[in-house]
Amino acid sequence: MENKDFIKRFNDNPEYIFSAPSRINLIGEHIDYNGGKVFPCAISLYTKALVSRRKDLNIRLYSENTKTEILADFNNLNYDKSLGWANYPLGIFYILKNKGYSLKYGLNIYYSSNIPLGSGLSSSASILDLTAYICNYIYNLELDNLEIALIAHESEVKYNGLLCGIMDEAIISLGKKNNALLLDTNSLKYEYVPIELKGASFVVLNTNVPRSLTESKYNERVAECNKALEIIKSKYNISNLCELKSSDLTKIMNLLNDDKLFRRVKHIVSENERVELFNRVIKNNDLSILGIILNESHKSLKDDYEVTGKYLDLITILARKYAYGARMTGAGFSGCAIALVSNDKIEEMEKYIKSEYKKQTSIDCDIYKIDIVDGPKGEIL
Ligand code: GLA
Repeated sequence: MENKDFIKRFNDNPEYIFSAPSRINLIGEHIDYNGGKVFPCAISLYTKALVSRRKDLNIRLYSENTKTEILADFNNLNYDKSLGWANYPLGIFYILKNKGYSLKYGLNIYYSSNIPLGSGLSSSASILDLTAYICNYIYNLELDNLEIALIAHESEVKYNGLLCGIMDEAIISLGKKNNALLLDTNSLKYEYVPIELKGASFVVLNTNVPRSLTESKYNERVAECNKALEIIKSKYNISNLCELKSSDLTKIMNLLNDDKLFRRVKHIVSENERVELFNRVIKNNDLSILGIILNESHKSLKDDYEVTGKYLDLITILARKYAYGARMTGAGFSGCAIALVSNDKIEEMEKYIKSEYKKQTSIDCDIYKIDIVDGPKGEIL
């Protein structure tokens, strides 16, 4: 994406440049809509945007990735499925307008992203946060980074209809170089945890299997958790599933009297405890134990929560031949996994996974060596 592309498309000069990262979650999967603690970090794959202000109240959006442009005006921002990706940025304008923020002029925005779309690295939260950040910057809305994340999250849930938790929007907005974010999704309190692995790295493994049915399956899991919570609340005084401990599980099993719902709760409770453990162990750089926790998390997501799928299972099995541990990251079903691997084994692991994965699936997978980076940035050109 270059200035000349913007000029050619909009017949105007770009005035600002912005970027927002993507994310991986190190541990704490599918518990951000159950009041648990999550442990994500922002990574060095980005959505970027060039922007100029318009004289009218229209929004012209172009995506270099899909090569599509849409023109909308502030007075007609209702969700329209046929607009596809554009519903993410449009939702931000819609939510801000409904909250009464003054959006003084329209914008031209030219987006470009190197985040593999639909791969579980949160390309959608990246464009949502980026757009909220752009509005905050240009219209001087005086939102802090957590408030930006909350606007983006509201847009994803209310406008785009995915009943997701706050994790993705929060980490992309609050990302900090070489740190993970330990976020309590119940209180929204957070702290940064330095990721200073000695001699090892987190590597991203992309199964390159496009997600299908992810949204309906995701919302199905949310509904199952809500159902289990309702039943448990009839007897115990809790407000979310992550208030339970492993030691509560036996009595919960009898109360639920439903194997599937019980396994969902078991995953939630055990995963929340794994986050606490992971946070303690990462401070000691105990890579073997971190690897075990990652593997346990994947197993729980596979057997109890049933969100992994054969491609994620395969790629994590292959990775474990070289890595300390590996697990799916994000919503799952397909998409990406992460592996914790000693730096001197990365090349060998990459070669092995690429050839074995291809042999067994006929699909080429991708492997990314990523950096842990800061949240959104913007500047005047
Ligand atoms: C998706 C959602 C997040 C979170 C993860 C699973 O990425 O957007 O809120 O629930 O799945 O941990």
